[in-house]
Amino acid sequence: MRFQVLTLFPEALRALAGYSIIGRAIQNGLLSITATDIRRFTTDRHGTADDYQFGGGPGMVLKPEPVFAAVDDALAAVPDAERGATPVVLTSPQGRLLDQSIVDEFAAAPGLIIICGHYAGVDERIRAGLVTHEVSIGDYVLTGGELAALVIIDAVSRFVPGVVGSAENVQEDSITSGLLQHPLYTRPAEFRGMAAPEILRSGNHAEIERWRRRQSLERTRRQRPDLLDAARLTNADRAYLAGLGGNDDDDAA
Ligand code: ADE
Repeated sequence: MRFQVLTLFPEALRALAGYSIIGRAIQNGLLSITATDIRRFTTDRHGTADDYQFGGGPGMVLKPEPVFAAVDDALAAVPDAERGATPVVLTSPQGRLLDQSIVDEFAAAPGLIIICGHYAGVDERIRAGLVTHEVSIGDYVLTGGELAALVIIDAVSRFVPGVVGSAENVQEDSITSGLLQHPLYTRPAEFRGMAAPEILRSGNHAEIERWRRRQSLERTRRQRPDLLDAARLTNADRAYLAGLGGNDDDDAA
């Protein structure tokens, strides 16, 4: 999977490349991340990549010419057969909220070109003429799109075969499976008066699975009840939720 990031701050992208799971995947040739400075594609002496907005208003707007040139350059590095399937992503707070379905779609692509939005905004012709997906990582405003690009790269990379230990792992993850993760415990069995649940040390795998499932259901209902609507629930799950009582009766619907 090839990630090509177009940004005014290429150094910001180095944060992910050097360590842990992503760093190892790059070393193993499963991923590549390149960060290209949009300023390289400016044509004036000063390397002007942004300008005042027509109509007046605060903040500088990312100019179209260097971004179009940078995307052309990035697309030229993509094999012909993969070009049409390579999303051109713009990070911005106006975009669709990143979720697992967008991550899945991106993970199925041969690579991504990500344009990091500028904090005041980008010339609308970049959206109209280049961008296939505009993505926000949450309802808050960052000073630039670089952290959003890193979030997208990290989330997508986990689904590239071989990046995370086994494919099963990522499919069973919380969110991917539709529910939040159950509580986890490791040694020691007792710590500062808090004991790991007896059941997890019982060796009874069926009971352990049942306990975990119920904990996931409870936690999801408490912390992210919105997820329950789309979660794949069994009849036993629904019965368990209904039995929890409380004032959240629409869970059972
Ligand atoms: N740029 C600034 N804020 C952003 C956000 N919330 N998501 C993606 N890109 C952004």
